[in-house]
Amino acid sequence: MRTAQIYSASALLVGGALAARPFLNEPDTGIDQALKDVPVGQLPDLKDMVGLPDFDWAARHYLPIENYTYYRNGAGGEWSYMANLEVFQQYHFRPRVLVDITNVEKTLPTTMLGYNFSAPFYISPCARAERGNPGAELNLVKGAAEGDILYIPSEYSAYTMEQIYEARAEGQVLWQQVYLSGNDTANAQVLARAEKNGAKAIVFTVDSAAGSIRQRAARYGVGSANSQFQPFTWDLYHRLTNMTDLPIVLKGISNYEDAVLAVKHGVPAIILSNHGGRQLDTTQTSLETALEIFNEAPEVFKKIEVYADGGVRYGADVLKLLALGVRAVGLGRPFMLANVFGVDGVTRVVELMKQEIAVSAGNLGLADLKNITSHYVRWTSRGYSG
Ligand SMILES: Cc1cc2nc3c(=O)[nH]c(=O)nc-3n(C[C@H](O)[C@H](O)[C@H](O)COP(=O)(O)O)c2cc1C
Ligand SMILES: *[C@@H]1O[C@H](CO)[C@@H](O)[C@H](O)[C@H]1NC(C)=O
Ligand SMILES: *[C@@H]1O[C@H](CO)[C@@H](O)[C@H](O)[C@H]1NC(C)=O
Ligand SMILES: *[C@@H]1O[C@H](CO)[C@@H](O)[C@H](O)[C@H]1NC(C)=O
Ligand SMILES: *[C@@H]1O[C@H](CO)[C@@H](O)[C@H](O)[C@H]1NC(C)=O
Ligand SMILES: *[C@@H]1O[C@H](CO)[C@@H](O)[C@H](O)[C@H]1NC(C)=O
Repeated sequence: MRTAQIYSASALLVGGALAARPFLNEPDTGIDQALKDVPVGQLPDLKDMVGLPDFDWAARHYLPIENYTYYRNGAGGEWSYMANLEVFQQYHFRPRVLVDITNVEKTLPTTMLGYNFSAPFYISPCARAERGNPGAELNLVKGAAEGDILYIPSEYSAYTMEQIYEARAEGQVLWQQVYLSGNDTANAQVLARAEKNGAKAIVFTVDSAAGSIRQRAARYGVGSANSQFQPFTWDLYHRLTNMTDLPIVLKGISNYEDAVLAVKHGVPAIILSNHGGRQLDTTQTSLETALEIFNEAPEVFKKIEVYADGGVRYGADVLKLLALGVRAVGLGRPFMLANVFGVDGVTRVVELMKQEIAVSAGNLGLADLKNITSHYVRWTSRGYSG
C-alpha cells in the first residue's frame, strides 16, 4: 500500500515533467555527442558549425556565463524569446513541384531603400559586441562587407561610431541605430554625427520607451543600458526628420495600427520586431505581426519597405516572412554569438544562411525568390508540437 502510494506520487511527478512543453533553444541535431571532447571554455572548430543554432552551443560552451547571459537574455519569463524561435514551426510550407528552380541562387540579391545587397537578410543592431570578441563591431563591419549584406551598428557599441564607420570597405553601406530621447539638442547631435560618419539611414528604436525587466541578466548585472521613460511620439518623429536628410526607419513595430500610422506619417521603412523578446515579454512575434498586417492592411507592404527580425535561425524562417511581403530579415543573436570566432564566424553565418535560403526556396518550387507569395505557406497555426 505504502509502496504503491510512493510509486504513484513519483509517477505523478514524472508525468508532470513530461507534460511540460519542451523548449528547444538548440534543437537536438547531435552536436552534444559530436563535440563531446571540446573542453568547457574552449571554442570548437568553426568547420564543425553546420547551422546557426550551433553558434549558440559554441558561445554557451566557450564564453564566461555573464557574457553568454547578456546575449541569451530575454525579458521576464522569456516567453517572447521562446515564441520567436518556435513560431516558425507552427506554419507549414506548401511546396510546389516540377518547377525549374536551377537559377534560384542567382535571385537572392535585393535592395533596401535603394541600396544593393547580396541577400534579403542583415545584421540587426545589437549592443556590446565586445562581450563576444575583442574585435567587437569591427568584426561585424568586415563580415558584412565580405558577405555583401547590410549591418546596422548599435548606438551602444564598444567602438566609437567614428571607428566603426572608418572600418567600412569601399562603398560599404551601414545604417545607424539610435536610441533617442525628448532632448532635441542631444538628438540633433547624434543624428548629425551619424550623417557625418557616412551612415545611409537612421534606425530609430521605438519599442524601448520604458526600459525592460530582464531577470536572467539581472543575476549577472548585465541588464539593459537604456532604462529611462522616454517621450517617444509621432511629433518627435517629425522633429527628427527636420534634423537630418537621412531616411529614418522605425524599429520595433508590433501591430498593424502602428504600421498604418507609419505609412500615414511618411516613414520610409519599418522593422517588425519585439526586440528579440528583450523588452515587453509576451509581445507577439514579428511573424504574427506580419500576418496581422497581411490580413488587416496588406497595402502597407506595397507602400513602404517592411523588414522583420526575431528568432530567425533557418533559411526556411526567412522564406515565411518574405512570403507575407517582408523585404528583408534581421538576425541578432546568431551574428553576435558567431562573433566569438571573429570575422570568420560572421561570414560563416552569412554563407550558411545564403545556402539555406537558396536550398529551401528551391525545394519550395520557387524559380525566383522574389516571386514568393503567401500561397507557399498554410497560414493556419498548427499550434505547438510536443
Ligand atoms: C545582445 C543584444 C543586444 C541588442 N541591442 C540592441 C540595440 O542596441 N538596439 C536595438 O535596436 N536592438 C537591440 N537588440 C535587438 C536586435 O536588434 C534584434 O531586434 C533581435 O536581436 C532579433 O532577435 P534575434 O536575436 O532572435 O535574431 C539587441 C539584441 C540582443 C540579443
Ligand atoms: C544596384 O544594382 C543594379 C542592378 O544590378 C545596378 O544597376 C545599380 O547600379 C546598383 N547600384 C549601386 C549603387 O551599386
Ligand atoms: C566578456 O566580456 C567582457 C566585458 O565586456 C570582455 O572584456 C571579455 O573580453 C569577454 N570575454 C570574452 C571571452 O570574450
Ligand atoms: C540636452 O542635451 C544637451 C546636449 O547633449 C545637453 O547639453 C543638455 O544638458 C541636455 N538638456 C537636458 C535638459 O538634459
Ligand atoms: C520643421 O522645420 C520647419 C522649418 O524650420 C518648421 O517650420 C517646422 O515647424 C518644423 N517641423 C517640426 C515638426 O518641427
Ligand atoms: C515572377 O513573377 C513575375 C511577375 O508575376 C513573372 O513575370 C515571372 O515570369 C516570374 N518569374 C519566374 C521565374 O517564375
